[in-house]
Amino acid sequence: MKITVIGSGYVGLVTGTCLAEVGNHVCCLDLDAKKIATLKQGGIPIFEPGLDDLVRRNVEAGRLTFTTDVAESVAFGEVQFIAVGTPPDEDGSADLQYVISAARNIGRHMTDYKVVVDKSTVPVGTADKVKAALADELAARGQTIPFSVVSNPEFLKEGAAIEDFMKPDRIVVGAEDERAIETMRRLYSPFQRNHERLFFMDVRSAELTKYAANAMLATRISFMNELANLAETLGADIELVRKGIGSDPRIGYHFLYPGTGYGGSCFPKDVKALISTGKENGHTLRVLEAVEDANEIQKHRLVEKVTRRFGEDLSGCRFAIWGLAFKPNTDDMREAASRVIMHELTSRGAEVVAFDPVAMEEAARVVGDNPRVRFAHDMMDALPGADALLIVTEWKMFRSPDFDLMKQALKTPTIFDGRNMYDPVWVRQQGFDYQAIGR
Ligand SMILES: NC(=O)c1ccc[n+]([C@@H]2O[C@H](COP(=O)([O-])OP(=O)(O)OC[C@H]3O[C@@H](n4cnc5c(N)ncnc54)[C@H](O)[C@@H]3O)[C@@H](O)[C@H]2O)c1
Repeated sequence: MKITVIGSGYVGLVTGTCLAEVGNHVCCLDLDAKKIATLKQGGIPIFEPGLDDLVRRNVEAGRLTFTTDVAESVAFGEVQFIAVGTPPDEDGSADLQYVISAARNIGRHMTDYKVVVDKSTVPVGTADKVKAALADELAARGQTIPFSVVSNPEFLKEGAAIEDFMKPDRIVVGAEDERAIETMRRLYSPFQRNHERLFFMDVRSAELTKYAANAMLATRISFMNELANLAETLGADIELVRKGIGSDPRIGYHFLYPGTGYGGSCFPKDVKALISTGKENGHTLRVLEAVEDANEIQKHRLVEKVTRRFGEDLSGCRFAIWGLAFKPNTDDMREAASRVIMHELTSRGAEVVAFDPVAMEEAARVVGDNPRVRFAHDMMDALPGADALLIVTEWKMFRSPDFDLMKQALKTPTIFDGRNMYDPVWVRQQGFDYQAIGR
């Protein structure tokens, strides 16, 4: 099939590349000329494990191309995926300007039938707006070319995006006409060879399914964070409680990890957008409001522990930070807890020396003007002279560090572990003041 993907970010680039990998011809469009130039030169603008090889292979095979030319991209694909950003607007609702602008571009240039697929995470009712935008542009041209609008929300996880796309738990498609349903079935048949993963439903249910999934996952995290804080006060260990409840198949082990609060490009904005959709429709989503509040509080939790130990005024202190990305295996710094932590420490006068195996370039971009933040060459290089180490992202390389070397390097052997990486009893036996979350 010939497919166009509009927006070549985390979702668009992975979607386009994986669709090319199974034999389709894919044209990826982005309006960011720098991004497309990087891709054309064989570079990958984001860090996603395995993506570079896959892109290279499909470009070499002639199945994957990149462009900034809207007319060329609209002409290319019978299927037009919209995978542009939907950042939060000032009131928390999803800002649809990029989605609508992508739809208008299709309407402005199309000359034959298109299936327009909303892959971006968009509020219920967006497919109607996309339809209206397309119809509007066609009317302005005096054209009556047929098209279908489909909702196909994406559930991939950054860091495991290729595996998730190639072997999805489920493929949700909201489509209401036979021609579009048939096209989507054909498009996704290579991804469900051993069992049916396609769930066809009406468009509004598909749009809501994506928000429901992220809201549920965010709820589990905030629930565990609140319980972790209570466990600390009660003298219980949240990690034991986690195992104790996770073993119940009705609960399960996934997404029960307490920490420094959820971040990233999806949970914070999607929870906000769903709350906002509720409000617009006369429903206060009380559980989600609490989920969001609890998360805001949790992002400050590690620094609270630091100030309890070192005082509110941290001038003259230096802190090492391990991990900056919002989670491991990505360089994504959007809404990362590390941003709040670096800001809080430095605004109290402290210096920060941070290390992350892949996100330092991105981190330097987001904290660029903060003279109190430096970056280290490797994890151990962050420690010398630091008053304490803060662990913010649970990269595998931090799991089993050389504690003797750490003790020698740190000014005082103190660890604030926002990810519960180590056995507290053992680490304390090694002579560390070890403070984790909920234990
Ligand atoms: N990142 C994730 O893990 C993830 C997972 C599931 C769903 N989503 C959703 O997918 C959507 C995209 O997210 P992302 O993380 O890939 O965003 P991103 O910011 O990485 O990429 C979006 C890209 O779209 C481009 N763009 C914007 N307007 C355009 C236009 N009119 N034409 C062409 N290109 C345009 C931007 O330049 C950018 O490169 C969002 O709605 C997000 O909520 C993201």
